[in-house]
Amino acid sequence: MNKNFNLKGIGSTAIHSATNNNAEDAHLVPIYATSTFTYSSTEEGMERFASKDKDKIYSRWANPTCKAVEETIAALEAFNLKDENQQTLKLKALLHSSGQAAMATMFLSNLKAGDAILTHYSLYGGTYELMHKVLADTGIETIIVDMRNMDEITNAIKQNPTIKLVHIETPANPTIQCIDIEAVAKIAKQHQIILTVDNTFATPFLQQPFKFGADFVFHSTTKFLNGHGTAIGGILLGKDIELMKTKVWKWFALLGGNSNPFDAFLLLNGIKTLEIRMERHCQNAKQLAIYLSEHKAIQKVNYTGLLAHPDHKIAEKQMRYDAPVFSFELKGGLQAGIAFQNKLLMCTRAVSLGTIDTLISHPASTTHFSVPREERIKFGITDGLIRLSVGIENIEDIIADFNQALEGL
Ligand SMILES: Cc1ncc(COP(=O)(O)O)c(C=O)c1O
Repeated sequence: MNKNFNLKGIGSTAIHSATNNNAEDAHLVPIYATSTFTYSSTEEGMERFASKDKDKIYSRWANPTCKAVEETIAALEAFNLKDENQQTLKLKALLHSSGQAAMATMFLSNLKAGDAILTHYSLYGGTYELMHKVLADTGIETIIVDMRNMDEITNAIKQNPTIKLVHIETPANPTIQCIDIEAVAKIAKQHQIILTVDNTFATPFLQQPFKFGADFVFHSTTKFLNGHGTAIGGILLGKDIELMKTKVWKWFALLGGNSNPFDAFLLLNGIKTLEIRMERHCQNAKQLAIYLSEHKAIQKVNYTGLLAHPDHKIAEKQMRYDAPVFSFELKGGLQAGIAFQNKLLMCTRAVSLGTIDTLISHPASTTHFSVPREERIKFGITDGLIRLSVGIENIEDIIADFNQALEGL
């Protein structure tokens, strides 16, 4: 694409944001399967080493296929946004081998022993474990409050001067709790605390946390950004470009959390259809949530598009549409949850989310089976809770499969 063309749509941005300067004029960004890069003279090598971009030196530091993904997701997260000086917002992104790796770089490059993270209940399990089993061992503490109550956040910050970073995941796993990013950002800014946001469930198509004051955003790209379940990956984005190219890059490159050109290629091609996939995922999710909310075997549907969801208004404020991942409770508890899953004929029984097919998981019998019952119920994971990531199949087929699987429960 010509650099002077001003893209107006987020779908075109997903397709045309990667610079693709390849010697053979390949239509798609090639898979640059190379560990190192040549330079024609010592001087050229010196120049590359001196540059903060670290391009064309060594693939743990930067790789052109990975860079194409970084440019694309940075363009999507910054789409139509302005910085404090009313200039087009510029972001720097670093593509990691997983969401966990991106999250680790984010926390470790911003915190040190003696600092604390303030966060909320109902986080992705891996995030909770990283905080409590890994960061805790390095002397970084985690404090949990209910972030739907702004007073709790302010009080925690006042009582704990060690809090240096506020981390939110919205919508959160698996109760689809939403946190008001703008309101939390305001408090964080007042106290000069960094705000980080896990935007995995929403993607930049549904929600752009930098618009509401986030300092860093990360995604597990394994999910909707890839869209096809073909590779694990994670991306970290920051608006302080200098910091991203120096301190944050140092942790990225020295811990070696980088992605690889094969996974980056799959991800880049998946992202190109983000807009149309998300529109269909969201439309299907809405219809399925309405169907379930009217079904006699269902106790409760945790979908932000329903007026009864406690965070309906927050989701409406900060998201384009309601997220296509939601959960519901069966009246029949654990046995009904197991039976429902076993009876499904088309939908896929698997953990993870964001793929083109509908994925169903029953946390009480799988991911949270070893968590003591009282503990998981505290986090909203009841015996009959089913989590689903609604796919882009035809909605008639999804509903027909649910209908037959719910029969008699
Ligand atoms: C919300 C959220 N954040 C982070 C992660 C971790 O990502 P990954 O599995 O790519 O390391 C996941 C994975 O399921 C997730 O759902």
